[in-house]
Amino acid sequence: MALAHDFVEPDAMAMRQLMGHFLTGVAVITTECDGERSGMTISSLTSISLEPPILMISLNFNTRTLDGVKGSGRFAASILGVKQESVARQFASRGGERFAEGSFDETPGGLPVITGALAQLECEVVSDHIIGDHHVFFGQVRHARDRKGAELVFNAGKFGSFHDFNHDAVPWVF
Ligand SMILES: Cc1cc2nc3c(=O)[nH]c(=O)nc-3n(C[C@H](O)[C@H](O)[C@H](O)COP(=O)(O)O)c2cc1C
Repeated sequence: MALAHDFVEPDAMAMRQLMGHFLTGVAVITTECDGERSGMTISSLTSISLEPPILMISLNFNTRTLDGVKGSGRFAASILGVKQESVARQFASRGGERFAEGSFDETPGGLPVITGALAQLECEVVSDHIIGDHHVFFGQVRHARDRKGAELVFNAGKFGSFHDFNHDAVPWVF
């Protein structure tokens, strides 16, 4: 789609282009249902509440991971670092065995998470909602840990890294 200077009612392709201006991090969502593991790359991970700690994820109807999260009522999020672009691609590819390659850790509740991810969070689904062509899940974080490192970012269909202005940190008052 050409750059739209007039307001339009966006179709799917236009929405993708428009929201490509909103840069995000990259996470892999994983779950296990009846002994079967599934997982996929997402950019829709959002922090919704701090007390209690609740994350939101939004999964397209035609993803295999959706069935796993629905069936188990649990998911884990691995927030990827800048050196993990290949993991993001592996978990976004159509078909194929996602867990055949790579290293995985286990959360205290037994869900697989990506080794070396900057943050690993295990969540229990506390609410969900079907909206448009996606199924949205709200997960309360039960177990989490993190490590230092540079985050992988996603913008306009491409992976990259983030550079701050080296200005003072923004004071965040609760
Ligand atoms: C950077 C990136 C972000 C993505 N974010 C989402 C997302 O938030 N929700 C979604 O449903 N699919 C998202 N996808 C697409 C899925 O990763 C892709 O459809 C995947 O094959 C689904 O896996 P599954 O069918 O095995 O569950 C994203 C892909 C990429 C590369």
